Amino acid sequence: MHSLTAFLAFFAVFINDASNQVTNTEYRLNYHVQPEQGWANDPNGPIHWNNQYHLFYQHYPNSSSPDWSDMHWGHVVSPDLVHWKYLPIALTPDQHYDKNGCWSGSAVDDNGTLTLIYTGYVQLNSSTSWQNQNIATSKDGVTFTKYEKNPVIKTWPIDGSDNFRDPNVWKHKEIWYMVVGNQNVNNRGRVVLYKSKDLRNWGYVGVLASSETLGTMWEMPDFFELDGKFVLIVNPQNLPRDDYNYVSLQSAGYFVGDYDYETNIFKHGPYHEVDLGHDFVETRTFFDQSTNRRMIFGWMGMWDAYFPEKNDGWAGAHTIPRELHLNENGKLTMTPVAELKLLRENQIYNSRILVSEQFDTGIPLNSTELFINIPIDKLKADKAGFTFTCMQNVAAGWGQFRVYYDKKREKIVSTRIKDQREADWKGASEISLHIYVDRSSIEIFVNGGITFTSRFYVPWLPTLTLFTENGQAEVDVQAYSLKNIWKN
Ligand SMILES: *[C@@H]1O[C@H](CO)[C@@H](O)[C@H](O)[C@H]1NC(C)=O
Ligand SMILES: *[C@@H]1O[C@H](CO)[C@@H](O)[C@H](O)[C@H]1NC(C)=O
Ligand SMILES: *[C@@H]1O[C@H](CO)[C@@H](O)[C@H](O)[C@H]1NC(C)=O
Ligand SMILES: *[C@@H]1O[C@H](CO)[C@@H](O)[C@H](O)[C@H]1NC(C)=O
Repeated sequence: MHSLTAFLAFFAVFINDASNQVTNTEYRLNYHVQPEQGWANDPNGPIHWNNQYHLFYQHYPNSSSPDWSDMHWGHVVSPDLVHWKYLPIALTPDQHYDKNGCWSGSAVDDNGTLTLIYTGYVQLNSSTSWQNQNIATSKDGVTFTKYEKNPVIKTWPIDGSDNFRDPNVWKHKEIWYMVVGNQNVNNRGRVVLYKSKDLRNWGYVGVLASSETLGTMWEMPDFFELDGKFVLIVNPQNLPRDDYNYVSLQSAGYFVGDYDYETNIFKHGPYHEVDLGHDFVETRTFFDQSTNRRMIFGWMGMWDAYFPEKNDGWAGAHTIPRELHLNENGKLTMTPVAELKLLRENQIYNSRILVSEQFDTGIPLNSTELFINIPIDKLKADKAGFTFTCMQNVAAGWGQFRVYYDKKREKIVSTRIKDQREADWKGASEISLHIYVDRSSIEIFVNGGITFTSRFYVPWLPTLTLFTENGQAEVDVQAYSLKNIWKN
């Protein structure tokens, strides 16, 4: 049965789309940004420019080896943050200063010129690299020309290390500012700041933030104003696990505080993770002036993750765009952008169910938006949530993906087979989950607060099963089928 389905899927792809080098669409996502073929990691840019949303991403465009390698910039464009289409590759590693990779960066509108700022990567020998900052410009938003005097920042600050990458640029009062990820003399993570009048001549300002304890290198820095505060997001490497914090090999985290442009002093609070799921890192935010929103994309992957889609000629994908805010406790929150409602086809489920042990709703989990509400005051069970069967990796084999509220411990838990993630959930009167499921991904937004993002792999079509342990729960479920944006 399953092998027959796989065979038919393969056959359908073969007939319909002989030019596409993805050999099997089994795990292709229906509405997320993913590479046309080959490998994708960090989102780059993004920007709203000339009435379109541009998203770039780290990309190795080879379906025969869909692995991280000499990085290019893939490019997609959308009128509405929902319907994306592929544009030609924006940056290719072809210069003496970027010959081993056009690494991550950002995009700005320089008085009408779409300008990319990126890291050039050159591997000098097994222990030393040359990481430098460059710009490339475009008048049409499709073809990019590298500046003839690149690199615009040739080398790292004298008290730093050669790990010097992922520039993020913004404008404040006619001056351009750039944060770059770097390391101090002890090889600990830090963010350094530059400024410029013209994007081409940069002066070093100093260290914006650093830590002796939070990881060895801070990748993908992002610094912005949000709801009256300043937020610094970094993606630290080698941050040791602490209970249920920093469980992933690498994750995104943030500091909230106050910043003074005159003194370059950023006074901030503690470090918190942006998303608590299995596959979320290497984030990029952008401010959309047309709608006055700050939004974020993350790489929906992990450096040590299992990517069975590599067998099909591709690997890696990006999250849905999420709107960022600070809540009353000063914590960063993410909510799916309102435009995603455009994906809805039909409401396929709307019921209140009294769950006792197990209830299979039959809702297909291939391209589905879900709202699941569990009032806590009516909850008689110790645990209540939902589950479906999936595969984690070859070693862990098959098991259950489970998301539930643990009443005794007052936790929200997301477990992919044995890999458990959890967060405190105290004092709320109900659990309200807003969930975007695609063919091999799930993004769970809990009461508009914390978020869990993960990939999962099931060769057949999984369905949503509600479950409880030791008692009953009243559960409200609403579901919408979502369309496939990649088919015309
Ligand atoms: C793609 O990858 C294959 C396998 O590693 C390699 O043989 C081939 O040369 C690559 N193609 C390009 C265009 O780099
Ligand atoms: C911005 O572009 C406009 C039109 O192309 C030009 O007239 C103007 O001088 C430019 N401004 C700056 C500051 O370069
Ligand atoms: C690598 O290159 C750097 C810079 O050229 C040099 O200082 C260093 O000695 C080299 N290391 C090795 C192991 O070759
Ligand atoms: C999801 O599965 C359902 C049930 O098999 C099917 O009707 C629907 O077309 C699928 N959706 C997508 C986007 O593939």
